[in-house]
Amino acid sequence: MEKKIEGIVKLYISEIDKAETSGDLIELKVKLFGKNGELTSLMKQLKDVPESQRPLMGKAVNEAREALEEKITAKLKKTEDEEQHQRLMKEKIDITIPAKTSVVGNLHPLNLTRQKIEDFFISMGFEICSSPEIEFVKYNFDMLNIPHDHPSRDIQDTFYIRDDIVLRTQTSAGQVRLMEKKKPPIKMLSPGRVYRPDEVDATHTPCFHQVEGLVVDKNITMSDLKGVLEAFAKKFFNENTKIRFRPSYFPFTEPSVEVDASCSGCGGRGCRICKNTGWIEILGAGMVNRNVLSACGIDPDEYSGFAFGMGLDRITSIIHGITDARVPFEGDIRFLKQFNNQEN
Ligand code: PHE
Repeated sequence: MEKKIEGIVKLYISEIDKAETSGDLIELKVKLFGKNGELTSLMKQLKDVPESQRPLMGKAVNEAREALEEKITAKLKKTEDEEQHQRLMKEKIDITIPAKTSVVGNLHPLNLTRQKIEDFFISMGFEICSSPEIEFVKYNFDMLNIPHDHPSRDIQDTFYIRDDIVLRTQTSAGQVRLMEKKKPPIKMLSPGRVYRPDEVDATHTPCFHQVEGLVVDKNITMSDLKGVLEAFAKKFFNENTKIRFRPSYFPFTEPSVEVDASCSGCGGRGCRICKNTGWIEILGAGMVNRNVLSACGIDPDEYSGFAFGMGLDRITSIIHGITDARVPFEGDIRFLKQFNNQEN
């Protein structure tokens, strides 16, 4: 038995020396002191040793156990400390390493302008609506009081999909769609794409954007139209902006006007932006024609309303000094990037 003890001590001392990780050491511990461990079974065998030798053997086993236990415990502590140190080194965060920058996109200038316009009209109690880009002739022309022989219906001016279906040429189609469904009071703003078969050049694109406005209620007058548009222009351009109405003609409004804002580039003195006139045309508008109200089932003797339609592309170009109407459609990243973090 003595030999056995010696053998175990020798073997395990070298095993402990060889062990590299705390895992190895724990394994050795189990092999020695576990339920079926080598030393445990030696202890169990003590009862078979002749009584005379038992105290001696018991002492020897105990000494071996203590020696091995001490060695394992000491090395385990050391390796565990080392391992923890290594882990901490690995997990250390170097806060001086430059951060990875991610590219954040930004909204298209047309969307930025649209949102700004929407925000203003929402603050005035308007609801934002949308209507189809592929539209019935009925809504794009007929119900808007546009005569059957009106030139805007020609194939030179309208994309026809079928005899009775077109790509809408104006967001005004949304006016009649809404009035057909909803009865006054109505305060709606409806932005969207419109299409006209224009030759592409610096001032024309076959697809562009309009923002339609419509208010219908009792006692709505031209001065309501003027008040709303003036507040809009002051908010949108600047506090000193003035607006003026020029007589015009649209089949769906009577009377009709074209609305100019004083040029914010030169304050009205005349510059390149306003072609030296001091004024910039921003939209078409007027009082909703009685025929349009009637066609939608709204009594024109009880209700009146105003409508306006502005060119979103034009207003965006004015604000940002964009001189070529094609550029906003091209998706050139160098152009789009310039609107990062801008307010409009
Ligand atoms: N729909 C007209 C256009 O496209 C603009 C407009 C809208 C005029 C509403 C009057 C009222 O030019």
